[in-house]
Amino acid sequence: PEPGPLKGRHILVTSGPTREPIDPVRYIANHSSGKQGHAIAAAAAAAGARVTLVSGPVRLDDPDGVDVVHIETAREMLAACEAALPADAAVFAAAVADWRVARDAGQKIKKTGDGPPALALVENPDILATISRSISRPPLVIGFAAETEHVLDHAKAKLKRKGCDLIVANDVSPESGVMGGERNRVHLVSAAGVESWPDLSKDEVARRLVARIAAQLGEGA
Ligand code: C5P
Repeated sequence: PEPGPLKGRHILVTSGPTREPIDPVRYIANHSSGKQGHAIAAAAAAAGARVTLVSGPVRLDDPDGVDVVHIETAREMLAACEAALPADAAVFAAAVADWRVARDAGQKIKKTGDGPPALALVENPDILATISRSISRPPLVIGFAAETEHVLDHAKAKLKRKGCDLIVANDVSPESGVMGGERNRVHLVSAAGVESWPDLSKDEVARRLVARIAAQLGEGA
């Protein structure tokens, strides 16, 4: 068979939510299904790449032919991504929890009758921004921007703030049906401008994005 357009390349992908413990039985998480990130990992593997997929807890099978690293927390996701470098391109599709509880209670927090516990939160590391600015930055770094309003303005600001090459922006307001759904309507925001794609299946978005990555990296290794 023809060698794929990403043969010889290593692509890092993050996917799914992260899960931040409050105590041994409770956690903070979000509604990310992992469908878009997993589809990108599968499409990159189908294009001949070696793929490392760092995934939070999802109800999806590991894609065939992909090295999957299962993690729970944002800090574990960052460590797994750093361990996976170098890569030719990285796609950060995970919905990382922005905050974690400052101090994970070692035991289940009990109701005391004195009212609810105060949970102090601290910020999680920004994996995309950290790797975009690291010494081992992949030549092509792609982030996602899931927004519920002002999608393009937020995406343009994010491109600069995170130091990545491309932001794939989508509308995840509840009426869009994107979170957990099978379809996605994305806008590619880069220094070159904005390119809006039509409503597509998440698999088709993945295939087109992988074709874009291959074109940007150039043919062959
Ligand atoms: O700032 P915001 O969370 O909207 O940015 C979204 C992009 O940043 C996504 O690509 C997401 O995977 C990435 N991100 C990350 N680590 C975080 C927060 C977001 O890698 N802690």
